[in-house]
Amino acid sequence: MLEEEYEQRRVLPRHLRKQPEPEAPFSFEIRAATPRDLPDVREIYNYYVTNSVVTFDEDAMSLREWRSKFAYLAKLGMPFLVAVSPSQQVLGYALVSPWKQKRAYRYTVESSIYLRPAATGKGLGRALLAALIERSREAGLKEMLAVVADKGAEGSLRLHEAFGFTEIGRMGRVGFKFDRWLGTVLLQKSLK
Ligand SMILES: CC(C)(COP(=O)(O)OP(=O)(O)OC[C@H]1O[C@@H](n2cnc3c(N)ncnc32)[C@H](O)[C@@H]1OP(=O)(O)O)[C@@H](O)C(=O)NCCC(=O)NCCS
Repeated sequence: MLEEEYEQRRVLPRHLRKQPEPEAPFSFEIRAATPRDLPDVREIYNYYVTNSVVTFDEDAMSLREWRSKFAYLAKLGMPFLVAVSPSQQVLGYALVSPWKQKRAYRYTVESSIYLRPAATGKGLGRALLAALIERSREAGLKEMLAVVADKGAEGSLRLHEAFGFTEIGRMGRVGFKFDRWLGTVLLQKSLK
């Protein structure tokens, strides 16, 4: 056997084989969003606009729209949080916005939570929603609603239910996206 061939065939004993690098543990920090986070927030949200029915938006949101939304929520003192990796990459965001414009609704908000696809299923949604609820309480808000698509958003439904959101109603066939009709499930949690 040629020496070269021998080298190729030779299998090193287990303890001498190069071990794969251990996967870095999934860690993150949750903080208030800043305008510098908005390009990442926009990218995360637009992924779901383009590829899923978890949002009924069909048009990608522009940075200008996100800046205006950020300023509006900041003026109202409504929480807008991001989760960032140790290298400061935005992994996901959670925010609340007014449920309706009429003044008597001022203590009621709608929640919104979106994670980078690679950051899902690792407990980050749970941590972000817990922080969002806490910050919303501190901001004096009283009722939180979540509007979840009745198809393709099982993760979101389970997550909200795990936090004590209860289903208060459904609307059938109110959305039409990717050539199919979609409904919504309405969930509510009292923050009092
Ligand atoms: C929905 C979302 C925020 C959940 O966050 P996540 O980090 O993936 O969820 P977590 O790992 O924290 O899991 C929390 C709970 O949610 C449920 N859950 C999460 N993903 C799920 C899935 N794909 N199917 C079923 N249940 C799921 C589980 O009950 C889980 O609790 P458990 O770990 O004790 O079983 C995240 O997956 C996401 O951003 N999805 C796409 C965008 C979206 O749907 N946003 C909500 C629009 S209404």
